Amino acid sequence: MSLRRFSKAQLERCSAWFDLVETPDEWTDIGPIGEGESQSVRVKYGDTVGVAKPGPPKASDLVCRAAHEKIAFDLAHRLDLPVPPVILWGKDMGHHYIRGRSISGWAFLQAGKWDDAARLGLLTSELITSASPVVSAMRVFHTWISDTDRKSDHTQVDLDSAEVLGVAFIDHAFSMSFQWKQPGAPIGACPAYMPAPEDRGTMVHTADLISQISDAEIERIVNRIPAGYLPPVERQHVLDNLKGRRGNLGALLGL
Ligand SMILES: Nc1ncnc2c1ncn2[C@@H]1O[C@H](COP(=O)(O)OP(=O)(O)OP(=O)(O)O)[C@@H](O)[C@H]1O
Ligand SMILES: [Mg+2]
Repeated sequence: MSLRRFSKAQLERCSAWFDLVETPDEWTDIGPIGEGESQSVRVKYGDTVGVAKPGPPKASDLVCRAAHEKIAFDLAHRLDLPVPPVILWGKDMGHHYIRGRSISGWAFLQAGKWDDAARLGLLTSELITSASPVVSAMRVFHTWISDTDRKSDHTQVDLDSAEVLGVAFIDHAFSMSFQWKQPGAPIGACPAYMPAPEDRGTMVHTADLISQISDAEIERIVNRIPAGYLPPVERQHVLDNLKGRRGNLGALLGL
């Protein structure tokens, strides 16, 4: 069973954005999200709402945020894992946005942070347990891409969930080349940070699926990112480490 409990429209957007690199659309800024280091803004095109980041220009920031967001989504899509769709946004690229911007499609019609839903008492122990497989799979995925910014605050839930909790993982800005400065970068496992019991079977299965992604597929996903978003040095670190870690996740996670 798929771990992506996205709407049909969201799954279609995932497929459409996986096929694209940069958005051809004229998005409208509809105001700040009001939190977060990147001061992200809500953007809209037709009926589609997304979160663009960074919000205001970050002229001196060389972190390849947008490239990381896009590659993380593309890899997750390939693995049928719940990262909302991401597309690159070239508007004002260069002087204002030196490493460009990304847009993340709004996770669920009724999306809320895991922590807020928990505070409101919406997460029963049954719903939390129902999230075990997805939380476990994503720990393996985040270990692969060496994401250092995981916290339950970056986990969105579907507030309309019935028996099985819809969960989506956002914000992959501080992964990959933010952490990887050489081939074989010595970065360990992503900690078990989510309050859901771990499902070893799903972890083993996810590590297995990741190990089967070919060099050619990794190269296709990484090399289609334009150089402005991901310069040659960072690109090489991303390629080397995605390939190098892919078969090593079981060992890193003690599976
Ligand atoms: N796809 C999405 N669906 C729903 N809400 C989202 C989505 N993307 C972002 N948000 C909301 O916007 C907030 C800020 O997003 P995000 O965490 O990606 O940015 P940030 O922390 O400012 O970025 P960075 O860590 O790169 O500086 C999130 O906490 C969340 O509430
Ligand atoms: Mg964040």
